[in-house]
Amino acid sequence: MKGAASAAPFFFPTRSGRMSSSPPLSGLVDSLLVAADEALRALSGAATAARPAPSVADAAPSRPQDRELSGRLMRVNHTGEVCAQALYSGQALVARDASIRRALQLAAAEERDHLAWCRGRIDQLGSHASVLDPLWYAGSFASGVASGLAGDRWSLGFLAETEDQVERHLEGHLERLPEDDTASRAIVRQMREDEARHGATGRALGARELPGPVKAAMRAAARVMTGTTYWI
Ligand SMILES: [Fe+2]
Ligand SMILES: [Fe+2]
Repeated sequence: MKGAASAAPFFFPTRSGRMSSSPPLSGLVDSLLVAADEALRALSGAATAARPAPSVADAAPSRPQDRELSGRLMRVNHTGEVCAQALYSGQALVARDASIRRALQLAAAEERDHLAWCRGRIDQLGSHASVLDPLWYAGSFASGVASGLAGDRWSLGFLAETEDQVERHLEGHLERLPEDDTASRAIVRQMREDEARHGATGRALGARELPGPVKAAMRAAARVMTGTTYWI
């Protein structure tokens, strides 16, 4: 064993026996692998929903311009759910408290339903996911890690504020989605209900209120995201 360790490449020191005798490091490697798996699932469209889609109807709006509008709005919502996966994944990676990590993972499971529902609806509408999704995933993951490193209560505050902003955004989409797009409307309504519960859970777990400038920066980033993914 000693011989094998000394023969290990110099630039891969952690491949020696140190890795197996160091639970925190192997735990981190496991967590990073889980995070990478979550990223691939979110970005490849391989995420599957645990709950059935909120509407059994799958018809697209009758007018072509309404179909186009629904496709664009649901693409924006899909990217929002890609960001939610990234955010929760980043936060769970560095969460200190096990009960908070568990709550993040439960909420992330519901976000996975949203992601799969939006993806399915985009396909039904003949639209496509945004080409910018990998970029937004990376940014949201970094935000999740950063808020998590600031401490669990700040992380929960970031989560609660995100969910509040998403809830208001979804209310806006319910006003814009064509009346005869019952399937998209049912998805957005269920998402809005779930996001409100995620925000309330974050507050119940001790979320701190974010400073005004941070909330404003989050709104600005969300405007850039929704404005760009509406088109591409
Ligand atoms: Fe969601
Ligand atoms: Fe949510």
